[in-house]
Amino acid sequence: MTQVLFKNRRPGETVFLDGYRKTGGYEGLQKAVKAMSPDEVREAVKESGLRGRGGAGFPTGVKWTFFPADQFGEKYLVCNADEKEPGTYKDRELLLADPHQLVEGMIVSAYALRIPVGYIFIRYGYERCSQNLERAIAEACEAGFLGDNILGSEFSFELHVHRSAGRYICGEETALLNALEGLRANPRSKPPFPAVRGLFGMPTTVNNVETLANVQHIIVNGPEWFRGLAATETGAGTKLYGLSGHLERTPCLELPIGTTLREIVEEHGGGVWKGRTFKACLPGGASTPYLAAKHLDTPLDFEPIEKAGSRLGTGGVTVFDDTTCMVAATLNLNTFFARESCGWCTPCRDGLPFVSWLLEKIERGEGTMEDIEILRGQIRNIHGRSFCALATGAMEPVASLLDLFMDEVVDHIKRGRCPLKR
Ligand SMILES: Cc1cc2nc3c(=O)[nH]c(=O)nc-3n(C[C@H](O)[C@H](O)[C@H](O)COP(=O)(O)O)c2cc1C
Repeated sequence: MTQVLFKNRRPGETVFLDGYRKTGGYEGLQKAVKAMSPDEVREAVKESGLRGRGGAGFPTGVKWTFFPADQFGEKYLVCNADEKEPGTYKDRELLLADPHQLVEGMIVSAYALRIPVGYIFIRYGYERCSQNLERAIAEACEAGFLGDNILGSEFSFELHVHRSAGRYICGEETALLNALEGLRANPRSKPPFPAVRGLFGMPTTVNNVETLANVQHIIVNGPEWFRGLAATETGAGTKLYGLSGHLERTPCLELPIGTTLREIVEEHGGGVWKGRTFKACLPGGASTPYLAAKHLDTPLDFEPIEKAGSRLGTGGVTVFDDTTCMVAATLNLNTFFARESCGWCTPCRDGLPFVSWLLEKIERGEGTMEDIEILRGQIRNIHGRSFCALATGAMEPVASLLDLFMDEVVDHIKRGRCPLKR
């Protein structure tokens, strides 16, 4: 299995500059700065088909075309390392193992976009990752890969680590920019998009850790090589899948993007634990719709997973066995989102607690058939109508609960109790 981002990963160890360079580290930067123009680097990323790994899956090269790359002056590259999506821990694994992957990816990206300053906005609990990054940045400065006139060129770039104050909303890119400015982390209205008016009012691009860490590999090996790494026709690259839930094993692995859910569950996860059977999974974090057993052969890549009714999200795969009450599981997820709402808009602030109240009532066995209709109405009123994507994402498991597990919901109402409780 080709390992690109995890090729230096060893249990309990972190690779710093010497180890990173032994396996080709900073060759991408040398090639970009010495042999390619910024436009050529951007074109290669666009050609590669790389899509954002932070959740929304927007094509990175296309996103960069909205950025004023040819304009010089104050502009920012921000790496989103907030990673508070439940069931998601891939960025942490990468930063624990090999922090220079991100540092080099950011330097090459900054070169492509002619950006002089970058920030890594990192989850406050990821202290070891933050320290790894600070050491990697110091080593890169010492080696002439960061700072003024990088590798003797005209290009200069400085990079800083900023520890998040620690709320889920801080991962939403515009709330993140407010947090970086020292303001309350409420989302900003879009437009203007960060590419036009971002950090401190200046053009900014926000990208995920895994997204940026792929960039130098595309430069070294070429866009075609990158597309060829995928297991699907439509995909590009590898994917860091973080497994969790009711499996025999729950590793974080780098696999070709588009590896099937069945292979991930049965081979890499060692099957559903305790000899039980697969009931459902969240394929890409807590704000993605469930997949059920009938979806086990779905390739976990953006397009096929959308056809199956869900989203790749972050690639954090959480599995539920057949003893799980899906109403209770959905209530648990929604309670998280309700607590994490920043309160900025009504659908999120008032809608999410009401959805939790309804789910709890159904789970207790006190729900009515009318409650299902009220729940449907809430989904309609919240999904796509909140100020940012937090509440919209929160509605995705709820909507898929009604699509895939309606019998179980109705069973709660008819029996007047949770059918899975003895
Ligand atoms: C509530 C919320 C939380 C988010 N948290 C993260 C996060 O922790 N990390 C991340 O990369 N993207 C997160 N996102 C997505 C970002 O807003 C943004 O789309 C992403 O950082 C862009 O990077 P990409 O294009 O490389 O995926 C979150 C979005 C929402 C709505």
